[in-house]
Amino acid sequence: MRNSDFPVSLANDFERFKRELPRDFPAHVRDVYRINLAARYLDEPLPHPIGKGSGQLSLNVGQLETDAEAGLAFAVLKTVIAQDAAGAQSMAAWAIHESKMNVERRGDSWTVTWKGRGWDRSFDDYLALVRASWDFTASGALLAVPSVKYHLPRLGEPFRDEEYAFTTRALAHAWGQSPLLLEKDFSPTLAGDRLSDEKAQILRWLREVPQRIRAQANVRLAMKLMNARFDDDFQQEMMHAASGADTLVVFNRLFDVERGVAYGGSELSTRNLRVLDRPSGRPAVRPSLSGTGNIHSGRLIVEYAIRGCSSVQLHTFFQLPLEEYPATEGSRTQRVLHALIFDPRDGLIAVMLERERANTLHRRNGELHFLDLCAPRVN
Ligand SMILES: Cc1cc2nc3c(=O)[nH]c(=O)nc-3n(C[C@H](O)[C@H](O)[C@H](O)COP(=O)(O)O)c2cc1C
Repeated sequence: MRNSDFPVSLANDFERFKRELPRDFPAHVRDVYRINLAARYLDEPLPHPIGKGSGQLSLNVGQLETDAEAGLAFAVLKTVIAQDAAGAQSMAAWAIHESKMNVERRGDSWTVTWKGRGWDRSFDDYLALVRASWDFTASGALLAVPSVKYHLPRLGEPFRDEEYAFTTRALAHAWGQSPLLLEKDFSPTLAGDRLSDEKAQILRWLREVPQRIRAQANVRLAMKLMNARFDDDFQQEMMHAASGADTLVVFNRLFDVERGVAYGGSELSTRNLRVLDRPSGRPAVRPSLSGTGNIHSGRLIVEYAIRGCSSVQLHTFFQLPLEEYPATEGSRTQRVLHALIFDPRDGLIAVMLERERANTLHRRNGELHFLDLCAPRVN
């Protein structure tokens, strides 16, 4: 196929897939465009890089079914608050119930305003969701992994290991296989909390939490880093301190101290990409990175990928008013994937072909590879 044919077939695919996106679109992309979208999250192979970040959109089996049917690559379950065997939660302030979410414009992008925090149903309910997630994962339908917020002590105080023990072991038991795949959330509301006033305290958490979790079970661990209320240098220091994780999710939303809410939008992606852009801003090989923050186009996926992210996790883009998506039919998940992959100007295919034309991405054995975008930089 000649290069000049691509825009035509892409425009056609974009149009016809508005009505129905084929579930195995990665195979179609490989056949027609000779583009291999294979990606990785937590060292697991994925058919493409797009997943759903933890939140209100991964609270139940129905949501996972819709995501699996649409062909989403992975989903991170809503964050559960750790507890000990007696049910005590040191981070109980995060287990609050709040249902109302507002999707608002923020600059030229979107943000979701919501005062809720972690999982607010029982831990047993969460374990049931984790068992179902294992079934989705084992069948290859959708990689779905749990997320936890554990106790974080003040400097000089010990970690409450009983919470780490009870919660990690119960999740490992519910997950069908060893290792347990797990995300540890350091949330934006935590960044806004007095607990996060001290840099040394945050760095201690990032250094010590991986070993606290790993002492309880065989865990492959992603740590989702917050945007702390300090400068870019500190953000980078946090990444170094967290090197005991297998994967870092970079970086959760910003915190508006005046309004007391977390927010996203272009301010979030600007800050995240700026930090990842620093020459020593990211590890050469490990931990691997998964990008999050204001991703609403294939072009933004590529921006995160060229800074080392081998997968991406979106939340806000799944919540836009339906008329904002170019697709006219299908689930929200299908409409999101359609826009991110097939948009003829800013979709992932278009941007990878653009980089080929600019000589910044090269074919191997006739194919362009998504993972070649995130090959480690030589510094
Ligand atoms: C309403 C809402 C709830 C969220 N809840 C969680 C959560 O429980 N745990 C977590 O790790 N991230 C949570 N997030 C963060 C998202 O997973 C995501 O990383 C972040 O919003 C940045 O991506 P986005 O700009 O695509 O929304 C939440 C985000 C929103 C908007």
